[in-house]
Amino acid sequence: MDSTAKSNSLTLLIIIFIFNVSASSSNLTPSFPKQALPTKSGYLSVNATSNSAIFYAFYEAQSLTSPLSQTPLLIWLQGGPGCSSMIGNFFELGPWRVTKSLNLIPNPGSWNRIFGLLFLDNPIGTGFSIASNTDEIPRDQNSVAQHLYTAITTFIQLDPAFKDRQIYINGESYAGKYVPAIGYHILRMNSRLNASQRVNLAGVAIGDGLTHPLVQVTTHAAHAYFLGLINERQKNDLEKIQFEAVRLIKQGNWSAAREARSSIFRLLHNMTGLATSFDFTKKAPYKTHLVTEFLKSREVKKALGVSGSFVFKICSGTVKEALREDVMKSVKYMVEYLVTKTRVLLYQGQHDLSDGPVQVEAWVKTMKWEGIEKYLNADRKIWKVNGELAGYVQKWQSLANVVVLGAGHYLPHDQAGNSQAMIEDWVLQKGLFENVNFTPCSVL
Ligand SMILES: *[C@@H]1O[C@H](CO)[C@@H](O)[C@H](O)[C@H]1NC(C)=O
Ligand SMILES: *[C@@H]1O[C@H](CO)[C@@H](O)[C@H](O)[C@H]1NC(C)=O
Ligand SMILES: *[C@@H]1O[C@H](CO)[C@@H](O)[C@H](O)[C@H]1NC(C)=O
Ligand SMILES: *[C@@H]1O[C@H](CO)[C@@H](O)[C@H](O)[C@H]1NC(C)=O
Repeated sequence: MDSTAKSNSLTLLIIIFIFNVSASSSNLTPSFPKQALPTKSGYLSVNATSNSAIFYAFYEAQSLTSPLSQTPLLIWLQGGPGCSSMIGNFFELGPWRVTKSLNLIPNPGSWNRIFGLLFLDNPIGTGFSIASNTDEIPRDQNSVAQHLYTAITTFIQLDPAFKDRQIYINGESYAGKYVPAIGYHILRMNSRLNASQRVNLAGVAIGDGLTHPLVQVTTHAAHAYFLGLINERQKNDLEKIQFEAVRLIKQGNWSAAREARSSIFRLLHNMTGLATSFDFTKKAPYKTHLVTEFLKSREVKKALGVSGSFVFKICSGTVKEALREDVMKSVKYMVEYLVTKTRVLLYQGQHDLSDGPVQVEAWVKTMKWEGIEKYLNADRKIWKVNGELAGYVQKWQSLANVVVLGAGHYLPHDQAGNSQAMIEDWVLQKGLFENVNFTPCSVL
């Protein structure tokens, strides 16, 4: 072997060595750079007589465009029921995203660019949150809201600077139930409290949400048919199950109605062979399992203020089971109340077959609200970000609806930059979200 060949093979060996070390070490001990740590994280107790507590991770705004006391605070709730908000944090809208090699990289589309961002694992028993006993896990939206209210008011008391900041409740998917529930609860509490004790709720936002199942469940067959994914006979077969789901809801047979909804998606998968109903354009399911892999590490858990022995599940079967009878119940009346007292944003990814634009438009037009005709007749505006087509915005006074192009169910994952532009403009009432001759008020 001459010296060049020797040094070449040595280089090769070194490369193989480095590759192996980095591959295996990243699998065993994901790195959590110091700068990626939340500003605060840990637990908020929800019950004075048990250990039940909601896990939180809070990221302060990366840059301040106004004094801290005037910097809005966004709260994020994941869906499921029973899925961890760490999906939102490390896969969608948080400041750091987990990669395939289980490292964290900055997310330029993070929602905490100019706002504080608080992730809550809700309800108890979800993600890192603690349910000291299964009976304490909420079974309806009223109980979900009570625990969230305790957690949120406890969080606000952690820092005197939080007190005056505007609060926006955000969430996705099954949080289409949680977001209205906690928003409604806050408004009801505020009406009974003195100004200094109120939660400064300034708006609620629901992404790809399940809110009014009675109507949403009737849309899937036609949706798939008009996308060319199924034929007319298959559409008829799906419609039969949809009618059954509606019949069961009207009977108040909640478990069977939920089962019927699941059957619709099972059959749709079977007919179409799609990788996921969360995005009909995707060739493989979303890689949310990376979040689970990342959060298995003791070091990562300790860095977040969680016990190293905590067994993290991305979605809790126990919580899902506790809320079984709740799934098909509507919270539409809460949204109808919220639009009269505060601002409401609905947004969906164009490619979502579960809780996308078709499903949301169907229930919104059944809203009982004095502004609904005006909203339905409002122009659907073309929305651009940096000169590029990003989607469509329909808005009248307190209600705005956005369809985001090129996104599925995990919309901020698919369209990070555009989702950031959307939330910032909506919160700040800029661009297409500007309010003319209308001042929202959250005080009764
Ligand atoms: C608090 O925990 C106790 C004991 O498990 C339970 O009986 C009670 O319902 C819980 N209260 C709330 C608000 O969850
Ligand atoms: C509100 O303030 C009034 C007067 O300061 C006081 O009497 C009352 O107890 C307060 N209400 C609540 C709910 O704290
Ligand atoms: C609910 O519906 C299922 C399926 O149709 C049926 O087997 C069950 O008896 C129903 N339960 C009630 C309480 O009506
Ligand atoms: C659909 O169901 C049939 C009958 O159970 C089965 O043979 C087929 O493999 C399924 N197709 C898909 C794509 O799951």
